[in-house]
Amino acid sequence: MQILHTDLLCIGAGLAGERCAIEVAGAGHSVVCISLVPARRSHSVAAQGGMQAALGNAIMGDGDSPDVHFADTVKGSDWGADQEVARMFVEAAPIEMRRLAHWGVPWNRVVAGTHTYWKGGKPFEATEKTENHGLIHSRAFGGTAKWRTCYASDGAGHAVLYTMDNRAAQLGVTVHDRSEAVSLIHDGHTCFGAVVRCLRTGALRAYLARATLIASGGYGRIYRASTNAIICEGTGLSIALDTGVVPLGNMEAVQFHPTGTVPTDILVTEGCRGDGGTLLDREEYRFMPDYEPDKAELASRDVVSRRMIEHMRKGLGVEGPYGEHLWLDIRHLGEAHIRTKLREVDEICQNFLGIDPLYQLIPVRPTQHYSMGGVRTDKTGAAYGLAGLFSAGESACWDLHGFNRLGGNSLAETVVAGGIVGRNIAAFLDGYDVSFPTAPVREALKRAEERVVRLIAGSDGKESVYAVREAMYDVLEKAAYVFRNGTDLAWGVRELEALQERAAHIGLKSSGSGANAELALALRLPGMVRLAQCVCHGALERTESRGSHCREDYPERNDRDWLNRTLATWQEGATLPTLTYEPATAVFELPPGDRGYGGGKVIAATTSEEAV
Ligand code: FUM
Repeated sequence: MQILHTDLLCIGAGLAGERCAIEVAGAGHSVVCISLVPARRSHSVAAQGGMQAALGNAIMGDGDSPDVHFADTVKGSDWGADQEVARMFVEAAPIEMRRLAHWGVPWNRVVAGTHTYWKGGKPFEATEKTENHGLIHSRAFGGTAKWRTCYASDGAGHAVLYTMDNRAAQLGVTVHDRSEAVSLIHDGHTCFGAVVRCLRTGALRAYLARATLIASGGYGRIYRASTNAIICEGTGLSIALDTGVVPLGNMEAVQFHPTGTVPTDILVTEGCRGDGGTLLDREEYRFMPDYEPDKAELASRDVVSRRMIEHMRKGLGVEGPYGEHLWLDIRHLGEAHIRTKLREVDEICQNFLGIDPLYQLIPVRPTQHYSMGGVRTDKTGAAYGLAGLFSAGESACWDLHGFNRLGGNSLAETVVAGGIVGRNIAAFLDGYDVSFPTAPVREALKRAEERVVRLIAGSDGKESVYAVREAMYDVLEKAAYVFRNGTDLAWGVRELEALQERAAHIGLKSSGSGANAELALALRLPGMVRLAQCVCHGALERTESRGSHCREDYPERNDRDWLNRTLATWQEGATLPTLTYEPATAVFELPPGDRGYGGGKVIAATTSEEAV
């Protein structure tokens, strides 16, 4: 059995992981990243629209500031965010955007002079200032008071990840790709690294690390329809949950993006609507202004997704061969704009949908997109429960987004949190001496080895790994989607308890112990079902509506009883997570109030009076 030593083990080599790794390696510590795929194929590469930062260079961003960005973020989160984290983020984001430019990211730039821009399907003229010529430009995104999203056409993730990966390589960061962490090595108090399985050979290795970072992205792929890459199955979160001492925060907070394409579920960016695209119904009627007169298509994502489903429920959706949907219209933006600033959308439409968005409408519907829940950390990025364990990016709940993340805030968070948490890890390592006890290492390796042997020998049972996964998808689709209710959620919790049992009795159809996708899924699946249960159980218990968590039987946001964060832990042998709660934020720089869009009632924190 191979044992490797490093100062930092980084589980995940996407933007958050590599940004952290750069800080730690830059401070002179050794770093090994493990990744399911080559670093440049991490899901960060698929990010399209851009990163929010209050630079205020574009004329439509004039007057922007970290304060305005802060207010947008907290309102977007429906007051679920940790406001100290939000403050750190908005202050650091402009610095990170300029740093990325310095490292080589080709941001779109302001061109002085008068331009035609679009808002809600209508053109207008605006003049960019001469003194801002050449500075980083920005586009509109949902839920923002200013145009604040820095962009590189519609391939920001691609541009930034390639730049970041070059930088990491220059600093000697090692990436072991096609490797999957199957458990954390710990003694209940301290994390010592992870047991990692090579996806090519099946070999198990112990990576012993003075610090371990989970930066493995979200859990979108516990849903059938998701814009996420197929690698986003939440493995980093499930190995944290398996420790029994590390809680996951706000797992019921799952984001649905209004414009997942039909039938592929591939994202077309919010930048389409930011740049002036509109949503149309079966009559090709623009319906969003009727629901949201101020923000229309650019209300926050949770609101737009709900309005779209509401509209389809009225029978106004388009019946297509792959189910009901609505239309996204960007035709009016014109060839020069679509073929350049929305060129990935153009390619997705042409190559995956067989349509030309210059002349045709794009079929869209709300699709799972982002995980607000994750490994609960404090504001330094240190996980609750185990010393030496950290998390950053989508896998973490530190908690910038509360119950709804604004578009463009997560890609920015990867680099902002990566920088902050990376510097904190470097400082932690400077003063940290740990010896690696042999018992937890042996025990973790033995457990992993026995699981693999049992699965290959077929001694666990006869359940099909794919059938169990399909059943889990069915449960989440019915019980924990855009709209939720107590009856469906209670059913979902029961179904997932039964699936938990089935996931423990998988019988493989294949026998290979190396590069075997069925075996890899069988190892992952019980953890995925536990994550699904954290979503469902957390959603059942949270008897209010907040951000993306919308209970039809509890339509108010209830600050009196629920201005808090759910913490889920899982004890060995348990059938359900243990749920506890902590205050959403210690500091209220922005007291709870009305978001300004989305409607709905609020039960105030201090009195039981209802305020609109
Ligand atoms: O629509 C988008 O481009 C997605 C951006 C995001 O999720 O932040």
